[in-house]
Amino acid sequence: MSGKEHKYINEAFETNWIAPLGPNVDAFEKEIADYVGVSEAVAVSSGTSAIHLALLLLNVGKGDKVFCSSLTFIASANPIIYQGAEPVFIDSEPETWNMSPQALERAFKEAFKEGNLPKAVIVVNLYGQSAKIEEIAIICNQYGVPIIEDAAESLGAVYKGKASGTFGEYGIFSFNGNKIITTSGGGMLVSNNREALQRARFLATQARDAAPHYQHSRVGYNYRLSNILAGVGRAQLEVLDDRIAARRAIFQRYFDELSSLPGFTFMPELTDTLSNRWLTALTINQYEAGTSVTEILNTLNEENIEARPVWKPLHLQPIFEDMSYYSHSEDESVSEILFNSGLCLPSGSNMTEEDIETVIHHIKQTVIKRKDRADMFRT
Ligand SMILES: Cc1ncc(COP(=O)(O)O)c(C=O)c1O
Repeated sequence: MSGKEHKYINEAFETNWIAPLGPNVDAFEKEIADYVGVSEAVAVSSGTSAIHLALLLLNVGKGDKVFCSSLTFIASANPIIYQGAEPVFIDSEPETWNMSPQALERAFKEAFKEGNLPKAVIVVNLYGQSAKIEEIAIICNQYGVPIIEDAAESLGAVYKGKASGTFGEYGIFSFNGNKIITTSGGGMLVSNNREALQRARFLATQARDAAPHYQHSRVGYNYRLSNILAGVGRAQLEVLDDRIAARRAIFQRYFDELSSLPGFTFMPELTDTLSNRWLTALTINQYEAGTSVTEILNTLNEENIEARPVWKPLHLQPIFEDMSYYSHSEDESVSEILFNSGLCLPSGSNMTEEDIETVIHHIKQTVIKRKDRADMFRT
């Protein structure tokens, strides 16, 4: 928390707006819309519900296909299943770790041949880095298929001067507790299609018809954000730019200290884009480094420092084992390589210089210890 949240929460209490909706919700929606430069935003209870609403607005239903990035958190794809649709997973490419345009193109060509184009494409911006969205959009436009940009992790990131999350028909953000700004739980659906977002509000409030009594003509959802949590979001948005600066500085510290170690390669930042560096992620080539992701995770864990592997690709998840997958090239599955060698380091905006030093120290120690052992065996 930034410390400024109390002001907005107190306002909600003093005016007795303890409800899902209220002035903080309206203001938070407007402030996010202005920040990212879209005409409208709808505050909802999670990023997942925002994706679900986007799929509903695009009429995704039973038997439809939806293309989706494979290297992501399962929340990107779960709403496809809620709708009885079928996800088709698309691999990453090495320059952004996000959706591979060439894999997407192959998937489209096949779907077109089969006369079974997807209803939507969900493009994820992993760890704060925008995907190659221009190339992806050209392919999707060619087939007339809309994009949902899953920018849950990339609020504040920029692609060629334009905010991440604003390239598709719909964009979504998450304010989950672990995100760059948080409302403890919450999300936002954004678009320039005002009419569609008005419909999203309707669907997210139990699809209540405009009648004096309670009348419902279709199924709805309880997906709106509370006025109190929106107050937290407003205060958090005020410090978003500071948070991005802090996360980028943390990335830079790790990079300066660790990138020269053999086999250590940091997640790239595509030219003309600015990542919010939500998490500092890197890969470790264990043959060159002499140590592995597992070993570093274990060492840090022993010191009570939480680090994580990179997301396990969705096409490898047991729940999705029967779904189709298009790899970057015939003989290279980039998301699998990233999963097998990827590591996310502690990246909280409130890390102190000492915290960062400690993480760096333990990683270096792991490498040195392994090197000593290898040298011992060699002599
Ligand atoms: C890439 C991605 N998509 C979607 C979500 C879902 O957001 P939420 O947890 O707010 O439902 C998250 C994070 O949790 C995420 O990291």
